[in-house]
Amino acid sequence: MWYAADDAAVVRAATGTPRAALPAMARGVTMGEGATPLVTCAAAGHTVHAKLDSLNPTCSFKDRGSAALVSAVADASTPWQGIVVASTGNTAPSVAAYAARAGVPVAVVVPAGTSMAKLGQVAAHDATVFTVEGTFSDCFTLAQQTAGEAILNATAVYSANPFVAMANRTVAFELLEQLPAPPTHVTVPVGAGPLLGGIDQGFREAVAAGLLDRRPAMVCVQARGCHPIVQAYEADRPVTAWTEPITTTVGAIADPLVGYPEDGETTRQAVLDSGGSAIALPDAQIHAAADDLARRYGIYAEPAAAAGVGVVEELSLDADAVVVAMVTGHGLKEPPASDGADGGLARPADPDAIAAALVSAGDGPRAA
Ligand SMILES: Cc1ncc(COP(=O)(O)O)c(C=O)c1O
Repeated sequence: MWYAADDAAVVRAATGTPRAALPAMARGVTMGEGATPLVTCAAAGHTVHAKLDSLNPTCSFKDRGSAALVSAVADASTPWQGIVVASTGNTAPSVAAYAARAGVPVAVVVPAGTSMAKLGQVAAHDATVFTVEGTFSDCFTLAQQTAGEAILNATAVYSANPFVAMANRTVAFELLEQLPAPPTHVTVPVGAGPLLGGIDQGFREAVAAGLLDRRPAMVCVQARGCHPIVQAYEADRPVTAWTEPITTTVGAIADPLVGYPEDGETTRQAVLDSGGSAIALPDAQIHAAADDLARRYGIYAEPAAAAGVGVVEELSLDADAVVVAMVTGHGLKEPPASDGADGGLARPADPDAIAAALVSAGDGPRAA
């Protein structure tokens, strides 16, 4: 299932050329995806290295996989004329954007209630949007039923689209180059989990190439209102579909895995093999992490994308732990909960009111 680069390519990938780990494509459809910034913040008293995959061309980590997938589809030797993709909201605009560059038609299938900002992005790229009164799994089933010889199902789960996990390996190589010491923990918001599995595979290859003694612990984060992988991890059994109602509002990572639980099992195995853990958070903790990233660190993340920071307080970490949190999607696509929470963003303007917002009476400038 996995594409594995040879050791020489892995060394190049981990020393500044992450794409050396990807197979050469006849036609590269790229917009500079990957090579995203790593910036520090803090959570529960620990320094956290936030990997800003929210700063990819369409503002989510999905662009890593979409570039590889669309490059493959654009190759004249492949039979595909169009792409169908089920999405919780970020794969859809990502595939639509790359496919627009390649002139390949795209139809996306999303659950009703998906962020309008994300759907607006899809429409801007001239892809066709279909909504389903159901879950992401229902969307995936429809995509599978639509796929055929000329139509590729590009849904970002390992079983449908192996390009995604393959491309996500580049995160591991970038981290090895960006960090002064190798990470001990990498926290990842997870639906089915090809981001987590891909990163883990990258670290495996780095160990095999002699660049690293041991892989970091991969930490799978899900929302409590839909957490099939965490449920299986806690019960120490293979992943089965989530059959309870989905109650989380963090829709981007709400994947009940109905019909493809083995995709979640691949992720659980990566967690176990890496000595990691799987943890479900209440929505309030995820939203609080998104608020904190924006207010204290200038990082505007969508709620799901902040879950990797929100989970840090649940980990028992040594003082020398090197923790990376994947920030997977931008807040502009789905604003954190606090936006407008104080009764509206706009206030009538006058100099006194503006000054009062900046300087507390008698106290001088506000503390940072
Ligand atoms: C913002 C965000 N984070 C994380 C994920 C989880 O990604 P996956 O489980 O596909 O690796 C998604 C999935 O769409 C997402 O949109």
